[in-house]
Amino acid sequence: MEAIVIQGQSRLQGRVSISGSKNAVLPVIAACLLTEEECLFDDIPRLTDVDTMCDVIGELGASVSPHGVKGLRIKSGSLKNIEPSYEYVRRMRASFLVMGPLLARFGRVKVYLPGGCAIGARPIDLHLKGMAAMGAEISVNNGKVEAVAKKRLKGTSIYLDFPSVGATENIMMAAALAEGTTVIENAAGEPEIVDLANFINAMGGRVTGAGTRVVKIEGVEELHGHRHSVIPDRVEAGTFMIAAAATGGDVLIENVIPHHLKAVMAKLAEAGVQMVEEDGGIRVKADLPLNAVDIKTLPYPGFPTDMQAQFMSLLTSAKGSSMVTETVFENRFMHVNELKRMGANIVIEGHCAVVKGQKKLTGAPVKATDLRAGAALVIAGLMAEGKTTISCIHHIDRGYEDIVGKLSHLGAKITRQEVE
Ligand code: EPZ
Repeated sequence: MEAIVIQGQSRLQGRVSISGSKNAVLPVIAACLLTEEECLFDDIPRLTDVDTMCDVIGELGASVSPHGVKGLRIKSGSLKNIEPSYEYVRRMRASFLVMGPLLARFGRVKVYLPGGCAIGARPIDLHLKGMAAMGAEISVNNGKVEAVAKKRLKGTSIYLDFPSVGATENIMMAAALAEGTTVIENAAGEPEIVDLANFINAMGGRVTGAGTRVVKIEGVEELHGHRHSVIPDRVEAGTFMIAAAATGGDVLIENVIPHHLKAVMAKLAEAGVQMVEEDGGIRVKADLPLNAVDIKTLPYPGFPTDMQAQFMSLLTSAKGSSMVTETVFENRFMHVNELKRMGANIVIEGHCAVVKGQKKLTGAPVKATDLRAGAALVIAGLMAEGKTTISCIHHIDRGYEDIVGKLSHLGAKITRQEVE
């Protein structure tokens, strides 16, 4: 079995370039199903989740091929199938994002219920509410959702009980080819939503308000192909900023949009981390120990849930106690037990975790339980005295392109090794 092995306590120094955003590229690949024409993408991150999404649309009949060094060429002119395999949906719940495009283009789609995952039940009721509101008949049998629109989807107003990222994306894509205008109230406003809206508009769509809580989509008759570069991955960038701070390092983070990281940078500054915009990137420096800070995860522009685990690793050695509150997912503290095995002093009370700081972490064999928990263990390994061996690293490979290579380049003693 492959593992990541880290010899801790090297200060990270130098510069690292952030890859394209996983959570932007997945919906944009699904959006290619909205047109018969070819779409080109530059600088796609090499991630297993991207491979899975390409497998999904390939199985539907789209042609997917490399374009240049890190690009993709996608053409979904002759789709033959409207039902992705359970294998793919089980592997990656974002496969569910093909529902909106297929329903809009073909009036029919069957997708297995994505099911839950380590961090929560991950329901899709808001996705289905939106499709039904636009005129689709929804039925759920044998673990599969079938949506049928006998006539062209019709624009309408949809209120999301929670600003769900996936539901906003699925509804936006379905509405892009609907008759009339759709208004999504209480929509998610993440930068990845804006990137998807920009892509749809460049294809000939008419989306306005993306990034705010009210998104309006005027349906059009058809969409054309487009060449697109996805935004940098704000979660990868935040992860490297925390890794730099946690090791008392001095790192220039390149290919980053500071505006996307306001909440994370505000909390890092509160902890005493120095950050300046420099050379088109953000230079991160820190002298240890840092201050304890309280964080509470919220939908964008609040503190991102995808950064909670990584920040908690940093707080294990801060001066004083921190309160970490997770409001987005119901089970996103899976990393706590593993951090405690490295000596962290953390007590969970429901949706809150109290991190008693000033603990020096010691290396240990630990297990990644999900993508961001895995990233948190990498950061803890960089901080810890001695050797940390992280298993189940397939979780990490889903969302971080060459994390070992990038950290090694910054001076970390980190390798991928076969362990029994
Ligand atoms: C996206 O997941 C991201 N994934 C997640 O990143 C991220 O954590 C999440 O948004 C929140 O920011 C991708 O973009 C591929 P949601 P998504 O729908 O769309 C509830 C990572 O680490 N909800 O905004 O699934 C749900 O239960 C991943 O990169 C409903 O109740 O997130 C959860 O509590 C992890 N009904 C909350 O909303 C629904 O129909 C947020 O879910 C949909 C969601």
